[in-house]
Amino acid sequence: MMIRIGIYGATGYTGFELIKLLQRHPQAKIVFATARSAAGQKLSDIFPTTLDLPLTSAEEVDLSTVDLVFCCLPHGVTAPTAQKALAAGVKVIDLSADFRLHNPTDYEHWYGKAHAAPELLAKAVYGLPEIHRKSIKKAQLIANPGCYPTGIILALHPLVQAGLLAETTVIADSKSGVSGAGRSLSLKTHFSETHENFSAYNIGHSHRHIAEMEQETGLKIIFSPHLLPVIRGILSTIYITTKPEVDLATLRQAYNVFAEEPFFKLLPEGKLPELRHVVETNLCVLGIQAIADTPNRFILVVVEDNLIKGASGQAVQNMNLLFDLDERLGLL
Ligand SMILES: NC(=O)c1ccc[n+]([C@@H]2O[C@H](COP(=O)([O-])OP(=O)(O)OC[C@H]3O[C@@H](n4cnc5c(N)ncnc54)[C@H](OP(=O)(O)O)[C@@H]3O)[C@@H](O)[C@H]2O)c1
Repeated sequence: MMIRIGIYGATGYTGFELIKLLQRHPQAKIVFATARSAAGQKLSDIFPTTLDLPLTSAEEVDLSTVDLVFCCLPHGVTAPTAQKALAAGVKVIDLSADFRLHNPTDYEHWYGKAHAAPELLAKAVYGLPEIHRKSIKKAQLIANPGCYPTGIILALHPLVQAGLLAETTVIADSKSGVSGAGRSLSLKTHFSETHENFSAYNIGHSHRHIAEMEQETGLKIIFSPHLLPVIRGILSTIYITTKPEVDLATLRQAYNVFAEEPFFKLLPEGKLPELRHVVETNLCVLGIQAIADTPNRFILVVVEDNLIKGASGQAVQNMNLLFDLDERLGLL
């Protein structure tokens, strides 16, 4: 079986990453790829690739030729695009934030405008396979998680499920490579603004990704994102307080629920993950640190590639589940 695929927003960072992954997937066939400003050109005119994929405008595509579309578009633009595809009987994996929040009021609060297709929110499944695998397999519409939330939710979810945390407020301090902001130009991501620099932004309780982290963990997240002068990768440092009886061994045991996960790895005691362990892979890797003379406080360090496990790789993992394929296909 070949899955016939359309990609909206193929000229962005996640769109191009997706194309690279799908090219080595044995059961994926890209039927169309759309662009906005580059419509009418070829993908090879935009990126250094030998792939002669024509770029069409979104209005030109024939949805009857595909089984699945990936939306690699900004939030707000995606909802009407997904609506059209679903109405044509096509499955949708959306990489934007448009379908990640269950509650339209939350969307309006965090994204500053009313949701364009609130009736679809109840149908959307949050596409984190390690937590929602069963629902993903049956979904028509998958909301691929945000880049920061992927690692932070995976690090915290097992602890919440096991009831090990003493406090419902958690501090997450994250550092992201610049590709996390997308390919479009902005002063903040200029080479001369980011190179040899390191800065915090949207700290406290203001970054939009907080909404999905809180939805999925049930915790309150104090979140401090930073812009790291590298192209890709996210490292999050999370500070937790556990119940008095919880020691490091108990904490580590909670991650046994992910023992069979192909893309989640808990490092042995005493080891911490680094960006280079995961860049260019679909892995999420966690290390846990106890704190000397400070019982019941621990530090979690979790890493991922924002463009792969944090976006396009996770989207391919979701596609594999949706079409009953080996979840690892095209990702190892
Ligand atoms: N970057 C990451 O690490 C990451 C991780 C997870 C999720 N995401 C999410 O994934 C989505 C895509 O992100 P990205 O980083 O790939 O963004 P990007 O590099 O800025 O690319 C966006 C794509 O959408 C097109 N586009 C922009 N505005 C449009 C409009 N009004 N109508 C139609 N097409 C439009 C762009 O075309 P032009 O080239 O013509 O502008 C480009 O093809 C976003 O919602 C983002 O939040 C990103």
